[in-house]
Amino acid sequence: MLRLLILNLSSILPVIYAHKVHVGNKPQVRVTTALVNFHARIMDQWGDGGGKTWTIANDSYHPFAHRQFGGGKRREIRGTNMFGSGYPYGAWNTTSIARRSFPFGVWPLYWEDDFMDSSEVGAQLDTIRPGGHISIVPLRTTKENFTISQDEVYYAVGDSQSLISILISYVTWCHASLAWPTRFDPTSPNATVKLENVLQYYRASSFALASPAYSNPNSRNASY
Ligand SMILES: *[C@@H]1O[C@H](CO)[C@@H](O)[C@H](O)[C@H]1NC(C)=O
Ligand SMILES: *[C@@H]1O[C@H](CO)[C@@H](O)[C@H](O)[C@H]1NC(C)=O
Ligand SMILES: *[C@@H]1O[C@H](CO)[C@@H](O)[C@H](O)[C@H]1NC(C)=O
Ligand SMILES: *[C@@H]1O[C@H](CO)[C@@H](O)[C@H](O)[C@H]1NC(C)=O
Repeated sequence: MLRLLILNLSSILPVIYAHKVHVGNKPQVRVTTALVNFHARIMDQWGDGGGKTWTIANDSYHPFAHRQFGGGKRREIRGTNMFGSGYPYGAWNTTSIARRSFPFGVWPLYWEDDFMDSSEVGAQLDTIRPGGHISIVPLRTTKENFTISQDEVYYAVGDSQSLISILISYVTWCHASLAWPTRFDPTSPNATVKLENVLQYYRASSFALASPAYSNPNSRNASY
């Protein structure tokens, strides 16, 4: 049943529809790669990804100077229900996300108790997080006999810009009801969704779909 659920969820993920639409104003995220000049790369949310891998400048102000980023392809975007998944490269330490590359430019999420050393990209850096601070949005469907029944609520968690563009896709193509993303603190003891509620990570664990009704018993066995 869970398997079916995940298949249904990924079938409504806007990334899959991306190539079918023609919209002039494509959602993009600016990924700053140096804090001493205007060096940046543009992440096109509807692009196929790929392209060159870059190295963040030798800039002592940048928290992740010298790290590799970019090059991840759209078809590599999907992870599993384990934090740390969804990396096409750079997941050299399966029990920690610290010192990993950023294959999609964006940073991974972070969780309470410094899970898998995720405080490396924690709240202290939210203001310079590519795509904006971590946010959450509920996803409900307004149509009957859609793959998700009306009383089920899922949550998308990610940077605010990604969430807004994905939300627009959901509303436009999937008949989801509109709700704005709100700021989300994944480390809060009463967070709407927690580590174990994640059904699926995407984009080097920078984006997640979660349901409070789901609990992954292995979620805290750090290994990915
Ligand atoms: C980085 O910059 C510092 C200071 O400008 C310099 O001392 C160091 O050699 C540089 N490192 C690399 C790997 O280029
Ligand atoms: C992998 O991460 C764990 C947890 O932070 C750390 O103890 C271990 O030393 C790391 N492995 C390597 C090879 O750095
Ligand atoms: C969807 O539901 C409506 C009413 O509940 C029904 O009339 C219609 O046949 C259903 N459509 C499909 C494709 O199941
Ligand atoms: C979370 O808990 C804190 C402290 O117990 C409380 O102040 C806050 O209102 C709670 N937030 C929500 C959304 O319930």
